[in-house]
Order: sequence, then structure tokens, then C-alpha cells
Amino acid sequence: MYSLPSMSGMVALSIDRLELQRPSRTRLLKIAANARKEANACNSNSSPVTPSIDRRELLAGAIAGGASLASSVDSHALADPIGLPSFKHCHRATISDDINRRCCPPQPKRATIDFKPDSGPMRVRPAAHLVDKDYIAKYNEAYAKMRALSRGDPRSLRHQAKVHCAYCNYGYRQEGAPKQTLQIHFNWLFLPWHRWYLYFGDPGFALPFWSWDQEGGRYIPDMFRRETALYDAKRNTSHYEPTRVDLIYSLGSDKKSDEQIREDKLSVMYNNVAKVKQPDAFFGYPLRKGSSSINGPGGVERAPHNAVHIFCGSPDEHNNEDMGNFYSAGRDPLFYCHHGNVDRMWDVWRSLGNKDFTDPDYLNTKFLFFDENQDLVRVKVKDSLNNEKMLKYKYQAMPDDKSWTAYEPKPLKQTPWSGSSYEYRLVKASAENPEALKVEAEPVTITVDQPKGSACDEILVLEDMEIDMRSAISFNAFINLPEANKNTRVSCAEYVGTYSNVPHFMSDIGKGHTEIVNATFSIKANVEILGLKSADKLVVTLVPRGDGSLTFRGASIQYA
Ligand code: C2O
Repeated sequence: MYSLPSMSGMVALSIDRLELQRPSRTRLLKIAANARKEANACNSNSSPVTPSIDRRELLAGAIAGGASLASSVDSHALADPIGLPSFKHCHRATISDDINRRCCPPQPKRATIDFKPDSGPMRVRPAAHLVDKDYIAKYNEAYAKMRALSRGDPRSLRHQAKVHCAYCNYGYRQEGAPKQTLQIHFNWLFLPWHRWYLYFGDPGFALPFWSWDQEGGRYIPDMFRRETALYDAKRNTSHYEPTRVDLIYSLGSDKKSDEQIREDKLSVMYNNVAKVKQPDAFFGYPLRKGSSSINGPGGVERAPHNAVHIFCGSPDEHNNEDMGNFYSAGRDPLFYCHHGNVDRMWDVWRSLGNKDFTDPDYLNTKFLFFDENQDLVRVKVKDSLNNEKMLKYKYQAMPDDKSWTAYEPKPLKQTPWSGSSYEYRLVKASAENPEALKVEAEPVTITVDQPKGSACDEILVLEDMEIDMRSAISFNAFINLPEANKNTRVSCAEYVGTYSNVPHFMSDIGKGHTEIVNATFSIKANVEILGLKSADKLVVTLVPRGDGSLTFRGASIQYA
């Protein structure tokens, strides 16, 4: 990245279209069926976490009319592969209620070329807190040059930020489905798209990563605070050292002690990254043609990733710019350093024995990015999976990975499942009251059927969550802890994960600012530690923390 002689910058850009093989319906059905069997391998591809009607239950009974049973996830199993737009058809992106902006890429000067495996040399991306002065000088100079490039140059920082904006603020529609927006967050494209986004640039330079999961990376890296090209004025300056980064930070939540944030970190990393085995729950749900462009982010995306965005953005800015809103996040050089560590999580996860998706719709998804020569390069998801071999970079080894990959949470409460039926009055969902469950200021507790079964992973799915995408809503999820509230520490075996949203505006496509997503939590380890394997119901408590509210239609437990 950032070669000084060639003035290249981190250059990035856009998608064009996907040409995907069409999986046969038979194959998809078979995959779904296999997944429901008690498979041992978690690398079964496609979307095994398909909610089934009989497994859903709300505390107060069935949802009126069963209207919600056609879940957004079900539709995946029958969908065609997604098409992405030619960027000739890029629309203005929606920035806020009354602002639209052009985030579209310039026209390439030459014909599009296909990605060729990187011939090296191997670049080792260093932890940002460990780099020396010379490295920082070089890094800084590269950003200075990117800032100086003209607006129309795809390598400029301005353009770089727009690439992210176009994909996150609905600049694109899906090819062949002009009413379908395109979003590379909230689904399985999140990790590979951002991997490619960071990839192009000076082949002699290795980007730094902000290792927020490590003790050494507990503060926003110092180099970004200096008044250099790495600086960005729109940040939460009260979150510089000595404030430790909170990996489940949410707006308006109470201040935590340094020690609590440190302890939380291990549990957050363990629960949202390390223990997650099933690919949907780690990467996010599949995105296929014609389906809603968002269906549910994976654990790594929601927290730590989203929460760190919110932690960095400025609370004085209208939309929590820059890092705290997708349209503006790419303006802050810190973004790319943050995403280096997000990308590293993919490597760590694989090093734990987990396997990537093998679904051809995923592998053959294509994007377009400008390279350091301003050529537009066609890349495939499948070429990004093996970064060492195909992209010739890897990450500096980090000493603290084990502190969270091998974390062993302890139960907060020593009360085993009693077998009696729990009655919590907090939830009203019945024929008389067909409203979905609302999560607003107070915790919500429900019970969910736990069918007998065992598999590589056990997934708690909160289905059809309706979220106002402009909000920074966040909640922690617990099992077997109905008394959980906003002061409950997450460093316990009852905590199963966090949902956190980064605000962004939706373009005017007739559905307002609301999207429907599923939230998946891997709970196998928690259930075992808590001795709940034979319980026929699990008590699930959601503790909201961010601003805003959400509703959801039901919950189920799936084995995959
Ligand atoms: Cu595309 Cu960190 O977001």
C-alpha cells in the first residue's frame, strides 16, 4: 500500500457485477436438510440456520396468524445468486434525511483486468502499537499524498471514502433486480469485501492493524492522534488514551472502569468471535439475488467491529461522523487500521480449525476495485480466502490471542435449570396482541424451545428483528439470567453475545429506514458450561444499551 515513488494510494473501489452460478434448488434443499441433521462439521456451506416453524416460540404463545413465519431467511434457500450493478448505474447515496451525495466511482481509463495472484514478496502487516518511526513516516507520507490527489483520482482518500459510502448507503442496486439495494454489510460479503478494499496499493508496504483485542492495542493508536495526515478531526477525543477501547461500546451507556472493560474484552472476543463455529453466525447470512440485501451480520461484524466504529466517531457530530456512520467512516485513516484487525480475526478464526463457506454463490461473487495504477480490477471472493498465498500478506503474530480464544467463562449464578416453566410477564405476543416484541429501554426476557440435538454448533436466532438503521441500537444477550440488566457484567458464561448497529441512512426505496435482520448467537459452549443441555426451554434475556429501539418476531434454536 501507499508506495511513495508511484504515488499510489490505497485505492479502492467498487463492484461491478456478479456472475454467479445458479445452484440447483435440489442442492440447496439438500444442504438445508443436512444442516438440520446433527452434522458434526460446521463447514457445511449455505445457510443451515433456517428457522423452522415448530421451533419458534415466544413466551406468551404463538404469534398471531403465523404471519412472520415466512422469515427472511427462509427465502434464501430458494433464491438465485445475487447480481451486483454495473457501476455505470450508481445512484446518489443517502447521507441523511435531506442530503444525498455522489459516492460513485470515476470511469476507468482502460479496460477492466482480472486479478492475478499476487507474486509477492510476502508482506507482514504489523500491529500499529509496535511500528517504528520510519514506518510511521512512510505511512504518514502515503496518506499525505492520497489527501493531495484530485477528486477524480480513484486513489485519493476522498475517493476511497466514497467507495465505502456507495456500498453502505445504497448507491447501488442489484443487477437484474433494480428495486433491490445492495449492501456489503450485514451479510457474508462483509469480510471478503473489506479484505479486498484494503488490499490494493503499494506492493512494498504492509498496512498496520489496530489490535484492539490485545493489551498492547487497548488505546486508539497514538500515531492517529498527531496532527499529521493520519489525523481526523471528527473523532471522540475523550476516547483517546487513557480511555481503553470498549469492544461493546454503545452510545449513552454508563462509564465503565478500565478493569471492567479489560475483563469484558476477553468475554466479548470469546463469545462473538472465538466460540462461533457455524459460518453464518461468524461471517453473516448468505446474500443472494433478489433477497433483501441485508439479512443478518455475523458475530465479528456486530461487536467488536460495529462497537469500535461507534467508540471512535464524534458524539458532537450530527451523524456521529466520521467512524460512527458508514457514509463517512472511510474518511478517517483509522478506519483502515481498524479493519486490518477485523480482517485478522478471519485468520485467527480459521486457525482455530474453522472452515470457510464453500458455497459457489459466495466463492464466485465478484467485485471491482481500482489498483495502484488506476486500473479497474475484477476480483472474486474465492481469491481472497487464502490471503498468504493469493494476496501475499499475513499478520504479525500477537501474544494475547490465546487470552480470549481459550477463555473459559464462569457461570455468574450457580442455579441449574429447574425444569419448571418460567413465567416472565415482560413479553406480550399473542393473538390479542399481535405486535412484535419491543426492545427499548428495559430488558426483555423470553423463553425459547430447545429441541434435543447436538451438532458442531448450537445457534440462538432472534428472527425478523426490525431495526431503524439510523440508530446505534445495541443489546447484550444472556441465557439463564432473567435478572440481567444494564449493569450486568458480560464476563460470565450466561452472556452469549452482543448486537450492535452502526447508523446509516437508507435511500428512498419506499421502505423507510427500517430493515429486517436476524441475529444469531452461537450458544453451544454456554449451554454446556451452564449445564443446560437437557433443558427443554432456554430463558433468553436481551439487555438494550444503545439509543433507539427494535422489535423482533420470535426466536428459535438451531443445530448446525
Ligand atoms: Cu464497511 Cu467497518 O465498515
